[in-house]
Amino acid sequence: MTSAPSEYFISTPIYYVNDAPHLGHAYTMINSDVFARWHRGLGERVLYLTGTDEHGQKISDSAAKAGMDVGDWTDSYANKFKETWASLHISYDDFIRTTEERHSVAVRKFLQAVYDNGYIYKGKYEGLYCVSCESYYTATEAIDSNCPVHKRPLTVMEEENYFFKLSAFTEAITKWYEEVDDSVFPDFRKNESAAFVKGGLEDISISRVSLKWGIPLPWDESHVCYVWFDALINYLTAIGYGSDDPLFEARWENSHHLIGKDIQRFHCVWWPAMTMAAGLRPPRQVLVHGWLLVKGEKMAKSGGNGVDAVSLSEIYGVDAVRYYLMREYSLGSDGDFSLEALEQRYNVELANNLGNLLSRVTNIVFRNLGGVTPGYSGEIADRAVLDGHISSFKDHMNGYLTSKALEEIAAMVRYANVLIEENAPWKEKDPERLSSILGDLLEIIRLAAVALSPVLVSASPKILEAIGVDAKVIEGNFVSELEVGRYVGGSIIEKAAPLFPRIEG
Ligand code: MSP
Repeated sequence: MTSAPSEYFISTPIYYVNDAPHLGHAYTMINSDVFARWHRGLGERVLYLTGTDEHGQKISDSAAKAGMDVGDWTDSYANKFKETWASLHISYDDFIRTTEERHSVAVRKFLQAVYDNGYIYKGKYEGLYCVSCESYYTATEAIDSNCPVHKRPLTVMEEENYFFKLSAFTEAITKWYEEVDDSVFPDFRKNESAAFVKGGLEDISISRVSLKWGIPLPWDESHVCYVWFDALINYLTAIGYGSDDPLFEARWENSHHLIGKDIQRFHCVWWPAMTMAAGLRPPRQVLVHGWLLVKGEKMAKSGGNGVDAVSLSEIYGVDAVRYYLMREYSLGSDGDFSLEALEQRYNVELANNLGNLLSRVTNIVFRNLGGVTPGYSGEIADRAVLDGHISSFKDHMNGYLTSKALEEIAAMVRYANVLIEENAPWKEKDPERLSSILGDLLEIIRLAAVALSPVLVSASPKILEAIGVDAKVIEGNFVSELEVGRYVGGSIIEKAAPLFPRIEG
């Protein structure tokens, strides 16, 4: 009997439909896409979720300002996101829109559970609100009465609302941080959230009477659910909470939410409390990434510095953009975007090191061995060195350290380039030794192509075919292919076409 594959649920934030997607959003998507592809490669059953956040004041105002019906407005934006993700080869399994019926069903079921468990009460709210953040701020958080993020004046809000007893979860959240070591990753982000919780939690207002664009509360239809409360529940909707899907439990148990640091409080403080209030366990893990900056400022459409991910990938190629973003920044920290750095990474690691290696090796096989590839012998490329790179690569991928993982492969390819120089196969006369040299280099190329396949989605299959390996190997459980010595040779190949033409500045 074979056991069922384990479930792996990875989500992105759902995007507000008032802003065209830019490279900052693409950064979240490429990160999560790489995680999803890696876990599929491990043989897990992946549910990779993204979508759009369509309710609330901000969206309702944006549609009204444009003179559009709010439904048409949200449709057009949801499509923009879908088109952008398709052009970046984002392999999501489900795209959720919070205006869908399945979501409304799940939100109402969830709210009712929290209400029945005694964590919701009616009260009066007075506070400072930022519509762009869809969030309240305390007087101490405000900077000169302005929103600390958008630097625009905060609105004084006063309403009779329903409240969620967030304050009841201070201990439970702290316990979650303590008991689950990587509940929030990286660690310094967990410490930030822990310090925030330690400062004391206030109950939060979770409904609106003044707004109609939202999901009505099941026990009082004159209120709609506050947009953040509604939005977070999308993660449950998509894994079958509203529909009693039999896989719900298993998916929730292994749930990973990738988010940006600006929405950390909602995910690392509110969300675990909300789920516990509904009688569920908290999510398995929240992965927090930093911001993509332009000259030190957050990339944002409102900041006028948004880089268009699609145009960028049309100029440099999708693989170049994906590789640059994954290689340059490590999860958690902010990073400055620069075209010079993108060109540098591409030219050095992809064009010079990997691309040239492939051309040189296939050229010599074609010219000197009649195009028939030799297999790996281990006589030239030390097996222990290759094993070391591959095993560190896997560890880093399993630990969400993509940049470090890619560095391992870059180092392995540099090693191949040293070997090719030292062994000079172009002047090797002994056919046996020539086969050993080329077979080992081909194995390094194979390992690199398989390892890089979650990132180089177009080039990896082409590299494999160029060395006579069926590219189907990276469609399934490809992590098992990352074993040194699997390149057996015996294929007939030609000189590979250049895959990464140099970018001339
Ligand atoms: N709708 C909420 C999320 C609800 S999730 C239940 C929201 N949407 S957003 O469209 O404003 O932002 C979505 C994500 O994009 C956030 O994680 C945010 O960090 C990310 N980014 C927006 N600009 C970014 C950069 N410049 N750099 C990296 N990520 C950025 O918040």
